[in-house]
Amino acid sequence: MGKKTINDFNNMVETEEKIVYLTAYDYLTAKMEEKAGVDMILVGDSLGMVSLGYDTTFPVTMDDMIRHCSAVRRGAPNTFIVGDMPYMSYQVSDELAVANAGRFIKESLVDAIKLEGAGPMIASRIKAINEAGILVMGHIGLTPQFMGQIGGYKAQGRSAAAALSLVEQAKRVEEAGAFSILVEGVPSAVGKAITERADFPVLGIGAGPYTHGQLLIYADMVGLYDNFTPKFVKKYANVGEVLVSAFTEYVRETREGVFPVDGEHTYKMKDEEAAEFWSLLEKEAK
Ligand code: KIV
Repeated sequence: MGKKTINDFNNMVETEEKIVYLTAYDYLTAKMEEKAGVDMILVGDSLGMVSLGYDTTFPVTMDDMIRHCSAVRRGAPNTFIVGDMPYMSYQVSDELAVANAGRFIKESLVDAIKLEGAGPMIASRIKAINEAGILVMGHIGLTPQFMGQIGGYKAQGRSAAAALSLVEQAKRVEEAGAFSILVEGVPSAVGKAITERADFPVLGIGAGPYTHGQLLIYADMVGLYDNFTPKFVKKYANVGEVLVSAFTEYVRETREGVFPVDGEHTYKMKDEEAAEFWSLLEKEAK
């Protein structure tokens, strides 16, 4: 099966087939996700926390994103990939936003970019990038780049007025020309209302079961990132525990001289070469 396009995603909405979206930040993970059959990969700026060890997404740069998006592209050549515009790569002006979105496509060969927000300024950025021929995914609700204004990392749209505002924001993103939207950290009712009113694919992360597709941060769902786990995450594996156990065993066996086993984890030398080698060493020692 070749790489999906926006036509496939729109058809999936029509036929009520769920779109499966997952983050990846490196070659190996992307390769496994493509093998598993995900429809779409997000190289999120969550890269900053999951792979680079920052406390927030703010320090992530365009160079960080380009390097990791390129690695993910190499790992998943047949999967639709979305690159996340990092903090301050699009807020300043339409021109800067188009230039950075273009860099993403040109240097890392992603299929689309994602940016956060839905105010008039962000709508202008979406319009400008879309007019430059680049696919834009919007992102509303719990938007980490607006952390200060939304009062921290917590669910959004829990009052009637805030919920209504999110429905309006989704429409604004659609009208600005985005091909799809990601809704994060909102009650199921809000995810449902946005999805029912949308004419483009609505993807959710912590937005309930009614959106056209689901996104998870891969490191959360396999139990690799344990600094903080949001309520909406389902853990499908505990890879972190498996890795720590393997590393611990390696530490023990190496210290005890149990690993490596000669003849099992070692390269061989022909008997006659080994004999000559020892005789050469003896001669050198005289
Ligand atoms: O950066 C990211 O991975 C994201 C998701 C949390 C939605 O934007």
